[in-house]
Amino acid sequence: MKVEEIKKICVIGAGNMGHQISLCAALAGYKVSCTDISEEMLRKAEDFARTYLPERVAKGKMKQEQAAMALENLSFSSNLEEAAGDADFVIEAAVEKIDIKRKLFADLDRITPSHAILATNSSFIVSSKVADVTKRPEKICNMHFFNPALVMKLVEVVQGSHTSQETAQVTMDLAAKLGKTGVWLKKEIYGFLVNRILAALNHEAMFLADMGIAGPEEIDLAVTNALGHPMGPFRLMDFTGIDLAYYIGMERYQDTHDPGDKPSPILVEKYAKGEYGVKTKKGFYTYD
Ligand code: 3HC
Repeated sequence: MKVEEIKKICVIGAGNMGHQISLCAALAGYKVSCTDISEEMLRKAEDFARTYLPERVAKGKMKQEQAAMALENLSFSSNLEEAAGDADFVIEAAVEKIDIKRKLFADLDRITPSHAILATNSSFIVSSKVADVTKRPEKICNMHFFNPALVMKLVEVVQGSHTSQETAQVTMDLAAKLGKTGVWLKKEIYGFLVNRILAALNHEAMFLADMGIAGPEEIDLAVTNALGHPMGPFRLMDFTGIDLAYYIGMERYQDTHDPGDKPSPILVEKYAKGEYGVKTKKGFYTYD
């Protein structure tokens, strides 16, 4: 398959990542169906698009016709078969739970046309962990966006040993069509490039906080002011979701049994309180 043959993209999951990936693809001229098991998430994603696009037009960042085209390209459905049945490319951005992803990939393999590439936007899970439930492992890869997906330029494309050269190339080409800079990882590695680097930073930041050396605010101030990052690690976890950081830590710990991979006490405390960050209006910081 060539990238030019991709007409319709299905995005699985209307959460933090999925709603913005859908909009990116719709803005790039693709027909996009965004699907989620939650009607509420779908409604929020649609509301976001209907607010964001006119705001961009009002700000002079986008032409009215482009905004109208994007809205026209977008559809939302809680019916997976309807959303994915005629997709040429699928980007799975569902919750970071391996059992859910494996079930989804088995369903997608049954539902989608045989030429369709099935990519996962998972933050850490390599696609070989889902490719084996399909009859098309050569068409399975990672296509990893960053939050907020409408703004962040990078996309990591990870080619597993099961992924064909053609699939990785088409995925890189699609990233470019979406206005992103792709990096092609030729082998699978847990966490890819960016999240490995970020995890090392977060691990150290949480260790310092757990030790009582400094609080989240001081650590964030240090990182933004000394290293020039736009957000410190705690603010960034609030933004990407403390629940996500927790699931990723637990998933990793269950794999490695290494106590060093266990979510740190400060993270567990926030997770247990249901303080997931911006989405619950409270995390390491409080949001109005
Ligand atoms: N959605 C869409 N657009 C957004 C946005 C959002 N949530 N937040 C900000 N923007 C846009 C604004 O509209 C604005 O666009 P414009 O300049 O074209 O008008 C632009 O971003 C700048 O916004 P602001 O001036 O309001 O705010 P900042 O300058 O502070 O930028 C930020 C906000 C882009 C989020 C910046 O703080 C940043 O880059 N933070 C770090 C983000 C980051 O590290 N992301 C990677 C996280 S790791 C990850 O995603 C891994 C994954 O596996 C979970």
